[in-house]
Amino acid sequence: MNKQIVLLVCYCFLSVYCCRWFKDITISAKDKENRSFNQTINSCIERVAFGGQTAKEIYVRHQAITSLGKDSVRNLIWLQTISFWGCPIVHITSKLFRNVPRLKNVQISYGNVKEIPRGAFEELPAMELLRIHNNQIDVIEDLAFANLVSLKSIQADSNKLEHWNREWFTNTTKLEIMNFQNNKIRTIPRRAFASLTNLRQIHFDHNEISIIHENAFEGIEYLVYLGLRSNRLKEIKLDMFPNQIRIKSLLLDSNYLNFLANEVLNKISAKDVTLDNNPWKCPCLDRIAYWVYKNNGTIRASSECAGGRIPVCAYPSTFSQTCLEHVDEDVTKKYLKNLKSLDPPLPEYCVLPD
Ligand SMILES: *[C@@H]1O[C@H](CO)[C@@H](O)[C@H](O)[C@H]1NC(C)=O
Ligand SMILES: *[C@@H]1O[C@H](CO)[C@@H](O)[C@H](O)[C@H]1NC(C)=O
Ligand SMILES: *[C@@H]1O[C@H](CO)[C@@H](O)[C@H](O)[C@H]1NC(C)=O
Ligand SMILES: *[C@@H]1O[C@H](CO)[C@@H](O)[C@H](O)[C@H]1NC(C)=O
Repeated sequence: MNKQIVLLVCYCFLSVYCCRWFKDITISAKDKENRSFNQTINSCIERVAFGGQTAKEIYVRHQAITSLGKDSVRNLIWLQTISFWGCPIVHITSKLFRNVPRLKNVQISYGNVKEIPRGAFEELPAMELLRIHNNQIDVIEDLAFANLVSLKSIQADSNKLEHWNREWFTNTTKLEIMNFQNNKIRTIPRRAFASLTNLRQIHFDHNEISIIHENAFEGIEYLVYLGLRSNRLKEIKLDMFPNQIRIKSLLLDSNYLNFLANEVLNKISAKDVTLDNNPWKCPCLDRIAYWVYKNNGTIRASSECAGGRIPVCAYPSTFSQTCLEHVDEDVTKKYLKNLKSLDPPLPEYCVLPD
């Protein structure tokens, strides 16, 4: 071996310009005047690679890139948008960016990224939108999204996360939109959003959430969107909400809910609610409908899984006209059995797993 490697190492050690992340990739870009151009990149995406041209937007699509590392993108003072899309990126390190003071939109999507290390998105003072959806992310290190002073929206949906951690967002207080749909998240922890005072949209639909810990929604008074559709919730407990909360769209369809307690209904007001595909006890569903009506809200049929054939509620075996506020596994079983026995059968994604 390895004269070549030794030489390369020496060269890299000596030269501040050494950068080895990209080899012969083609990007498309727009300059300050919105003129499109294509560019071949070796080494880094950086000013010297563009000659005299400015780069305001950079799109890297379907290029053979498996890693992004330190300073992958640097010294581009006009850059506002960078998007890696459909590149088989598995590994990213910390400090991917340097000296990109105007970079607002960052995307690494439709790749194979497994882990987000701490500091990956450091030195992005202007970043407002971070999209890392449709990867294989199952680990996010502590503080991975901390101190992102301009971040308003994170789209981390369609990954493989089982845990969600509020510490990721330490000091990232401008966040308005949090999207973790389509993961495998199981719990929402205590005081999950307490320091995110600007949060308006929480998208946790299509996960495996069965537990929302007490005070999870502490500090939140108004949300435009709270999506809990298609999870494993059996109960919405009073202690999740230490305060009154107003919600524009509240999505609760496709869970295992039998009832919503009166005290819970009194704490929440919602305008647009989805309920279907839950094993509601029929008297409890009536009460919820009345609550929606009182709030001048509407119940919206949620999805392709709602509609004429699908039962909306079930009666407990000991008949009761009032809503008994406890989880009733028998009602749930009865309801699920009913769903499964429909003929012709429902699409599989409409049938809650036992
Ligand atoms: C470039 O496009 C953006 C968005 O379409 C527009 O707001 C801006 O004025 C354009 N800039 C120039 C120099 O044409
Ligand atoms: C850049 O490359 C793409 C794909 O090869 C091509 O369709 C497009 O016209 C090119 N754009 C410019 C401005 O040359
Ligand atoms: C959060 O911000 C405070 C105040 O600027 C600072 O003291 C603290 O170290 C920051 N936390 C982290 C984890 O960076
Ligand atoms: C519902 O609408 C009525 C009539 O417009 C109004 O009097 C009432 O205050 C509204 N209630 C709520 C909870 O918004």
